[in-house]
Amino acid sequence: MNYGRVAATNRKTNEPMGDKTPNAEAIEAADQRYVMRPWTHPAGEPVIVARAKNCVVTDIHGKDYLDLTSGYFVNNAGHCHPRIVEAATKQMGEVLQVSGKHGTVAMVKLAQRLMELAPKSIDRAFFSTGGSEANEFALKIARQHTKKPDIAYLQNGYHGLTLGSLEVTASEKYRDSAGKPMGTENFAIPMAYCYRCPVGKDVKTCKAECLDGVDKQLASRDTAAIIAEPMQAVGGLAPPQKWWDRLDRIRRDLGILLIADEIQTGLGRTGKMFGVDHYGLQPDIMTGGKGMSGGVGSLGMTAASNAVCKEFFGGTTPTSGGNAVSAAAGLALIDAIVDEGMIDNCANMGRYFAEASWALNDPWIGDVRFTGLLGGIELVRDRATKEILGKTEVAKIKDLLHAEGMLITVSGWHGNYLRLQPPLSVTAGQIDQFIAALRKTLTALRGA
Ligand SMILES: Cc1ncc(COP(=O)(O)O)c(C=O)c1O
Repeated sequence: MNYGRVAATNRKTNEPMGDKTPNAEAIEAADQRYVMRPWTHPAGEPVIVARAKNCVVTDIHGKDYLDLTSGYFVNNAGHCHPRIVEAATKQMGEVLQVSGKHGTVAMVKLAQRLMELAPKSIDRAFFSTGGSEANEFALKIARQHTKKPDIAYLQNGYHGLTLGSLEVTASEKYRDSAGKPMGTENFAIPMAYCYRCPVGKDVKTCKAECLDGVDKQLASRDTAAIIAEPMQAVGGLAPPQKWWDRLDRIRRDLGILLIADEIQTGLGRTGKMFGVDHYGLQPDIMTGGKGMSGGVGSLGMTAASNAVCKEFFGGTTPTSGGNAVSAAAGLALIDAIVDEGMIDNCANMGRYFAEASWALNDPWIGDVRFTGLLGGIELVRDRATKEILGKTEVAKIKDLLHAEGMLITVSGWHGNYLRLQPPLSVTAGQIDQFIAALRKTLTALRGA
């Protein structure tokens, strides 16, 4: 397998060496004139991509970037994987889309494949068109089954930005931008942030004390379910086993459902097929999205146990849920990551990435967290005090990395976390290229 190249940019002059798209400037002007982008761009963005292959995307000026965002955590098998392209192309000659009330061979096969891979507690899948929608259906199923209104979500949790999913997304920034008030049914419970433990314990010896009182909090409300990512993609926070054991025991004792949001952690991203597999969790409802269609169109999945989905009835018929081309691509994606050993590669490369990042021994690197390739680096001004590195410096680091041909995002509880999540096919050589660019960037910035 050819895992792609990244060095078509001249590393001395930073000049692109690839092919420039005809009318590149006109395309950029049209982007500025006609495309609505509801966020502010860091320097050099948006990158308008002309071609993408595996871990590398090439912009309209011919500049190559190592894509440490996997196209926003979608292209787990790499961009334009030949098996995915072939399967989608073949499907396009057969059937594209039928009413969600009927179905296609590809959709049924994808449901079967996913259910065979899912934890034992999950029996059937319902397809929609994206992650936020999948989570909204999960909330709906939980309420229909339990006849209770309230949903608990974790601090720092992210479950989407449509109005329903935003109700269980913790970010005040996003909630404010949507125009409060939000509903009063949903509420936050504590998350394990062991690097900055909220109750001052050491993760090696703690008893998940950050969850003290959560049983009372959940019991004091009419709580239908807890929605949570097994490990949080915002900030790469992976709670220790004892934390999940404790929360799972509490919610089972109270008869509260667990909704596992596997939209980002699913299909190999964490070095196992699903994030819940790290903890042995058996959720009642599980959601999927992002990479599930291999980058072809978009799929959302809301899956549940037979017992829980019995009451999921009435009025839920998304027009384009589970379209055949995305489903065929999703099947090819699963075959590719399994047959080509990408989940093992992901686990190994996650370890490699963590070791290489620590080996930089940089005073601004406070913590490095990788579970497979769900991960990144938390930046601090001072390792001893863990003072958060300022927004201006973090933005400059991102800009300089961008100029070096590294496509990354910044996220985290405090916005000081470099999220580094390339496709699962990334090589050690490509990680070395990133590490070299990071070393150069951090030293240049401190010297300035
Ligand atoms: C964990 C998680 N849940 C839900 C979503 C929402 O998915 P979408 O953007 O496809 O609506 C995302 C997207 O980033 C996510 O990471």
